[in-house]
Amino acid sequence: MGMVTFIAHDGSSQTLDIPDGTSLMHAAILSGVPDILGECGGSQMCATCHVYVDAPWLALLPAMQAPEDGMLESATSERRAESRLSCQIVMSPALDGIVVRTPPTQV
Ligand code: FES
Repeated sequence: MGMVTFIAHDGSSQTLDIPDGTSLMHAAILSGVPDILGECGGSQMCATCHVYVDAPWLALLPAMQAPEDGMLESATSERRAESRLSCQIVMSPALDGIVVRTPPTQV
């Protein structure tokens, strides 16, 4: 299990305790986190799970692969250096406490 905090663009936040091996997108959908839509179910085909990962955690994530990189180019909100698809972030002991921020819009 590990903790993840989603911070919305309005400053509100929601912290979840999720099992290792679960994607942040999947956990967010199950818990009704606003602004995470996950329309493609995690197959890197929609970018509606776009998040901005807080700096200390960004370096701990696996390197971005081409499909994720390409899909982020079509994200509705601004792509930043800390942009990732939350369906590609899988909880592990190293990520316990991760903080991500949701963009102003996903569609
Ligand atoms: S859920 Fe569609 S790209 Fe992540």
